[in-house]
Amino acid sequence: MEKHIYCPNPYILAEIMPYGYVYPCSCGWIKGYFFGNIFEQSFDEIWNGERAREFRKKLYENDFSLCPGCQNLEILQEIKDEKAKLVSEPPERILLGLDEYCDVKCIFCRSEDYKIDNNLIPEDKKDKLIDILSPWLKNAKYVKTNAVGEVFASKISRDLIKQIAGRFPHIKFEIITNGIQCTRENIEKLNITDKISMMTVSLHAIKEKTYNKLVKGGNYKQVIENLKYLSELKKDGKIERFELHFTVTALNYKEMPDMIRFARQTGAKIRFLGLDCSRNLEELYKKLNIQDKNHPKYNDLVRIVHSKEFINAKDVIEQGYDYFTGLEKISLRQRIFDFLHK
Ligand SMILES: C[S@@+](CC[C@H](N)C(=O)[O-])C[C@H]1O[C@@H](n2cnc3c(N)ncnc32)[C@H](O)[C@@H]1O
Ligand code: SF4
Ligand code: SF4
Repeated sequence: MEKHIYCPNPYILAEIMPYGYVYPCSCGWIKGYFFGNIFEQSFDEIWNGERAREFRKKLYENDFSLCPGCQNLEILQEIKDEKAKLVSEPPERILLGLDEYCDVKCIFCRSEDYKIDNNLIPEDKKDKLIDILSPWLKNAKYVKTNAVGEVFASKISRDLIKQIAGRFPHIKFEIITNGIQCTRENIEKLNITDKISMMTVSLHAIKEKTYNKLVKGGNYKQVIENLKYLSELKKDGKIERFELHFTVTALNYKEMPDMIRFARQTGAKIRFLGLDCSRNLEELYKKLNIQDKNHPKYNDLVRIVHSKEFINAKDVIEQGYDYFTGLEKISLRQRIFDFLHK
C-alpha cells in the first residue's frame, strides 16, 4: 500500500478568527486557507464542505501545497487508511479569536494608529454568538482564547467564556493573556478557576524599563503580582499547563537567560517566539528583528542562545530551543521525502 502522512489538525482543530473565518490550523502556516465563515454558512457547510474536503484530500495524497508554512512537523504521523477520510466529527479543540480589542499596545503587535475594525462581528450577530458557536462546541474538550486580542479586556471574549462555561461545563479553557487583568478576582468572575487546562502569559521582559519600552500602557508590577497567584494555582494543580511567552527582539534578547530563571521560579515553561514581521510595521521590524543575520546584534543573540544557561534549560524551554540555538530545522519538504522513502 502507498504510504500516507496524516495530520490530525483538519479533523480536530478549528480556529475561528476575526470576521468569522474558520481555519484548520494556524492561518499563517496554511496561507489563509479557510474552510468557511460562521456568519455566512452552517457548521456542516463549513466543517465538511467542499473546501474542508479538498484540504483533507490533499493531505491524504501527501500534497502539502496548502501548508507551506507548517511548523508543526512533529504532529505528522503515518496513516494506514485505504481511502481518504474527507468528512469529520466536530472538532475537539476550538481557538476562538473573534475580537481584537486590547488594553495595551505592544510595539511589535500594533502601531500607534492601530484601529479595531468594528465590523469584525456583524452587528446582527453580536448577541447570537453563543448560538452560532454551539454546533462547534458540542464535541469540544478545549477552547483556547484569545490569540488575537486581550481576553480580559474584551467584553465579547469575557461574555463568551462565561456562556461557554455555563452551557458546556465539560469544556476546559486555554487562556492566553498579557497578564495585566489576569487577577484572582477576574478569573473567578469568569467561573473558570477549576477549568484552566492551560494558562499562557506574555511577558517580554524581566526589567520593568524594558517592559515599558515594549508594552505601551502596560502594568509590569501588576503582571508580576498576577503571576504569583497563577504560580500558586499551578502548584495546587488547578492549572494543568503554565507558560510564559517572550517575543524576542533587539530590545529584550539580553534578558532571555533571566527569563529562563524566572520561569523556573514561577513553575512555568517558557516559549521564546520569533518576531513575525508580516504586519505593516516595516521600519520598526528592521530595528527589532534581531534574528535577521544582517542585524548588527545578531551575533550577540547567537552568543546568548549558545550560552550554558540556555543550553541547560531544555526542561523549561517549551519551544524555540532549536530555533534559537541555531540548530537547523528539517524542512517540510525533506521530512515528507524522508518519510515516503524510508
Ligand atoms: C497577539 S497576542 C494575543 C494574546 C494576548 N494579548 C497576549 O499578548 O498574550 C498573542 C501572542 O502573539 C505575540 N505577538 C504579537 N505580535 C507579534 C509579532 N509581531 N511577532 C511575534 N509575536 C507576536 C504576543 O507576544 C503574544 O505572545
Ligand atoms: S500539515 Fe502542518 S500546516 Fe498543515 S494542517 Fe497540519 S500542522 Fe497545519
Ligand atoms: S497584549 Fe497581546 S494583543 Fe495586545 S498588543 Fe500586546 S501582543 Fe498584541
